[in-house]
Amino acid sequence: MNFRHLKTDLKETILLLKIARPDKLNALNQETMDELSTCFDWVYSDDSIRAVLLTGEGEKAFVAGADISEFLAMQDVETGKKLSKKGQDVFFKIEHCPKPVLAAVNGYALGGGCELALACHMRVAAENAQFAQPEINLGIIPGYGATQRLTQLIGKGKALEWMLTADRIDAKTALENGLVNHVVPLEQLLPFCISLLAKIVNKPAVAVAMTIQAANKAGTPNGFEEEVNSFAQCVTTVDFKEGVAAFLEKRKPVFQGK
Ligand code: CAA
Repeated sequence: MNFRHLKTDLKETILLLKIARPDKLNALNQETMDELSTCFDWVYSDDSIRAVLLTGEGEKAFVAGADISEFLAMQDVETGKKLSKKGQDVFFKIEHCPKPVLAAVNGYALGGGCELALACHMRVAAENAQFAQPEINLGIIPGYGATQRLTQLIGKGKALEWMLTADRIDAKTALENGLVNHVVPLEQLLPFCISLLAKIVNKPAVAVAMTIQAANKAGTPNGFEEEVNSFAQCVTTVDFKEGVAAFLEKRKPVFQGK
């Protein structure tokens, strides 16, 4: 698919997806948000894509936030709600993607950029990564999910400290606080992420999707019920029968993604 602000490259079954506005440090303008939404519709529907690796173009930034130049058009409660809700909807689509989405954070992940990484299922940071929720310095709060997802991921105390101070968080501190899964040198970022996703793409696709679906409900009142239903969905698959048969026959399973 062709986009103006995104670059895509299907490497076998892993879609490398780059936010590509390097002259604006990959800031998310509305057009980029629309393209992200369209791109994830494609990811949902195309069986040849088994995972997404999301990163930013260039070495300086993953995404430096929502495009602040578009904020001048936000003048009242309605326009504020519209921008926040639209961003949340796009990021929900990423979070609920049935295929794993891994953020490779190469440099600045600020404001909406940190929130984009938070909406992904896993995060790996390059040593030069810098995270922050600096919205407070603009007189607003995070609007693309950080008050919820950052709080859930690292705990309310630290999340509030980071959102209220706008402090920059380096990769090591992000790792120590559970914001990212791994930190690697910048030149190893994409190869490391591809090798991580390569471990997942040949697993049974329905079980992968159901794991994501159930984990997304963690901490909600019906999280355990979701696990029961997601577990039960796996039982009807060809891959479940193959997985059990292969174990009992002491051979490697051959999964079909069905
Ligand atoms: N929006 C629009 N443009 C941005 C941008 C942003 N978030 N971040 C960087 N840019 C642009 C700059 O305006 C500049 O463009 P020009 O060359 O046309 O002037 C270009 O990218 C390069 O940026 P700098 O010259 O500022 O580069 P730097 O190395 O000196 O500084 C930086 C880098 C520290 C990341 C700085 O650009 C910065 O502070 N950016 C803003 C970060 C921010 O506040 N993000 C949060 C946005 S609010 C948000 O995301 C709300 C939400 O939750 C919905």
